[in-house]
Amino acid sequence: MELVIADNRTEAGVLAGRIMADHVRRGARAIGLATGSSPLGAYQELIRQHREDELSFRGVQAFLLDEYIGLPEGHPQSYAQFIRDEFTSHVDFTDSDVHSPDGRAADIPAAAADYERMIAATGRISVQILGIGANGHLGFNEPGSSLRSRTRVKTLTPKTRADNARFFEGDLTQVPTHVLTQGLGTISDADHLVMIATGAGKADAVAAAVEGPVSAFCPASILQMHPHVTVIVDPAAATNL
Ligand code: GLP
Repeated sequence: MELVIADNRTEAGVLAGRIMADHVRRGARAIGLATGSSPLGAYQELIRQHREDELSFRGVQAFLLDEYIGLPEGHPQSYAQFIRDEFTSHVDFTDSDVHSPDGRAADIPAAAADYERMIAATGRISVQILGIGANGHLGFNEPGSSLRSRTRVKTLTPKTRADNARFFEGDLTQVPTHVLTQGLGTISDADHLVMIATGAGKADAVAAAVEGPVSAFCPASILQMHPHVTVIVDPAAATNL
């Protein structure tokens, strides 16, 4: 595992974006995207390189980590919409090449299996960007998730729903209770995992993920088992290392 302590949040985002851009320039067929605020700086860097340095995403498949169950199409907090608004619509991705689990499907377990099949059919994900939840979750793999899990339904913990209420105008009742998420096994199949964490609120989770025991109780500790991981933090998130 490579650990980078960036000077600040902006630099952390630029470094993560550069790593993703390198994979795309080297011919990545598929990349893994994440939502939440952590990867936004990386997406800004990719948008900049698209506009100024001819970085192109034509023909690249993008797979999102997770999606809420039950939000209507186009809901600004559905992850499919969020990634379009924050990243993919600002570069030259073809819409049909940007994939996310179908949180509106009539048969949710079938939608999970379909998503796994779609990723497998594309081949390998070259680079997967990741944030980390304050409780150590990756994607929506909450504490207790099997370290070898595949895409499936998860119930959000009260902590995660409370953390994410800020995206729903602070109204906890609007935060869905269930999600579809790639499993820790699915995430681990990517060639290169790049995790970005900034701010003091992530310091405990980062220390547990990087230096703690590998345990389902800190899902991000699965990073320690992967052959190619880059963790990029700012000084505040590195406090407990
Ligand atoms: C959400 C997402 C995760 C993300 C995490 C942290 O619950 N499902 O993929 O890493 O929250 O979010 P943030 O980066 O906004 O702190």
